[in-house]
Amino acid sequence: MLNFNYSIPTEIYFGKDQIKKLSSCVKKFGNTVLLAYGGGSIKKNGIYDEIINIFNSQNIKYVELSGIEPNPRVTSVIKGVNLCKEHNVDLILAVGGGSVIDCCKAIAGGVFYEGNPWDFCLRKAVIKKAVPIGTILTLSATGSEMNGNAVITNWDTQEKLSFGSPYVKPKFSILDPTYTMTLPEKQTAAGTADIMSHVFEQYFSNTEETYITDRISEGILKTCIHYAPIVIKEPENYDARANLMWSSSLALNELISYGKVTDWATHAMEHELSAIFDITHGVGLAILTPHWMEYVLSQSNVNKFVDYARYVWEIPEIEDKMSMAKSAIEKTKEFFISLGIPSTLKEVGITEDKLEEMAEKAVKRGAIGNFKKLEKEDVLNIFKASF
Ligand code: NZQ
Ligand code: ZN
Repeated sequence: MLNFNYSIPTEIYFGKDQIKKLSSCVKKFGNTVLLAYGGGSIKKNGIYDEIINIFNSQNIKYVELSGIEPNPRVTSVIKGVNLCKEHNVDLILAVGGGSVIDCCKAIAGGVFYEGNPWDFCLRKAVIKKAVPIGTILTLSATGSEMNGNAVITNWDTQEKLSFGSPYVKPKFSILDPTYTMTLPEKQTAAGTADIMSHVFEQYFSNTEETYITDRISEGILKTCIHYAPIVIKEPENYDARANLMWSSSLALNELISYGKVTDWATHAMEHELSAIFDITHGVGLAILTPHWMEYVLSQSNVNKFVDYARYVWEIPEIEDKMSMAKSAIEKTKEFFISLGIPSTLKEVGITEDKLEEMAEKAVKRGAIGNFKKLEKEDVLNIFKASF
């Protein structure tokens, strides 16, 4: 295990009716809020009205930024920065999934930066100060509710890039599992694949003796495998929703990356797919993951896959480790298909003529991944296998 510093500062209010804590959470930071949300799901399911009632009854002033896109655009970030400056906002409240929260993180940093917030993604600028952020999560997937990462899309240059900063870690997040009950099946499934992919990116590591972290990681994977099919059948099953929601936060709040080198090649590849084809992040990950696993599996790392087979899929121990590993990869693929997720890039509208360009862009800043380093040819091979 490597050295690490533990810091997970977001206060979590988890469970039914935790929205009651909203006004006291807000008032710690001031009285003027940027209320940011997506394309309108929060208006349909009543969360918007609940928030507005609280704001009105507690005399909290607010200004709205609506219409934040899935795969949020830098244009929305700039709109938000302008609103914050114009109204002297004390707190940004992101209500939605990862896209809304990520957009708000870029806004929060952008308020104190003179240039274009896209510079954070280009590594041309680093956030040194940010408006505080709170979140109300409506989709279990990204972990953005409890981490300092954001992924922003620039539609002009067809780039989707990320940045991270401790300054944009949410100050508080309200996680009410009932808020995820209105999710379409596709988003629930994609969100689960995203949670599992976050675990894979950290679990498949060459750092040795990370026993405690590995067992926590397997627990999150088993939780997803157990509860996602229940949620698909019973969208209003509270405990199933609750377990997925907490899995989302634990999978990407740094906890399971402490003390080890992590991978992130599958995410780097997926971001190239959604940058050009605007596909749902978790769907892209579910398609690529089994092919990434098949591609990187080797005699030197087979023991990690054997652990995965044994502890996550409960595949009986046999002497042929490679065959155990391959069974676990097959189980992974079958599981995503069982959730109704397409299994090829072609099915989600990706065209073969773009594979090479996307592979090239994925390695623009150098080889990706650490479990196994991937160069352009490797990425292209994985794209072709996934096609
Ligand atoms: O926009 P609205 O109308 O709200 O609808 C959204 C959106 O269409 C809908 N939705 C959300 N909650 C709902 C709901 N519909 C009904 N009922 C609800 N309760 O779901 C759709 C997708 O929302 P989005 O926020 O895009 O999904 P997700 O949470 O999966 O976020 C994906 C984005 O996060 C980035 C991805 O790349 C992608 O851009 N990621 C962010 C990470 C981070 N910050 O740490 C890590 C991830 O790996 C990921 O890259
Ligand atoms: Zn992800």
